[in-house]
Amino acid sequence: MLRSHQESADRARTAIEARQHDPSYFREALLEVPPSERDAWLDRVLGIQELPNDGPELPSGCVPYLPCPVDALLRVIDHAPMRSSDVFVDVGSGVGRAMIFAHLITGASAIGVEVQPALVQAAQELTTRLHLRRISSQAGDATQMTGPLTSHPVFFLYCPFSGSRLQAWLARLEELRTRPFTVCTVDLPLPPQRFLTLGASPHPSVSIYRST
Ligand SMILES: C[S@@+](CC[C@H](N)C(=O)[O-])C[C@H]1O[C@@H](n2cnc3c(N)ncnc32)[C@H](O)[C@@H]1O
Repeated sequence: MLRSHQESADRARTAIEARQHDPSYFREALLEVPPSERDAWLDRVLGIQELPNDGPELPSGCVPYLPCPVDALLRVIDHAPMRSSDVFVDVGSGVGRAMIFAHLITGASAIGVEVQPALVQAAQELTTRLHLRRISSQAGDATQMTGPLTSHPVFFLYCPFSGSRLQAWLARLEELRTRPFTVCTVDLPLPPQRFLTLGASPHPSVSIYRST
């Protein structure tokens, strides 16, 4: 990474830690970095150094931790489109990288649900270190989520599971719906649902669904 981009990542981290973060400056600094280096730039901002190992709590059939690429996250956020009054809900949130990014670039609150307790702890350590109070991580199986839904949720799924678990999550979502919501997926086209309509597909890997 160019020295100027390393410096802009360090400036972004310093601003976050000093509670002087501004989403529009953050976006501007990110967009100056070539797409191929944006993941390394974000990892430098957040101080994330290596991928954590998966633990035994990952149920069979669920997908291990792998961070969503920044450019896919940007497409999700811009085409949802996410506003600062929305709540980003990361279904299978890992160490919190995607939800922290969504918060930093939009100002929206974020909630993560993650089945591996060690990853929840890593996410909590990260948000505490960066003084990010509007982001929370919950340990648990997302297919057992409880409601009701609050604010305008933007559910984000970077393939945490598929098949019967995905069907179970969708059935739970249908039961809990009391207000409009958006579901954004990366590399995970959803089977047709009577309560969801495909709103946008800005890239073959990204799908944005709206509640009917
Ligand atoms: C491909 S990773 C995506 C991580 C994160 N959303 C991101 O984009 O950076 C999938 C994550 O889903 C979690 N996961 C898998 N099954 C889950 C379940 N039933 N409930 C909650 N989390 C789950 C995994 O532990 C893993 O951290």
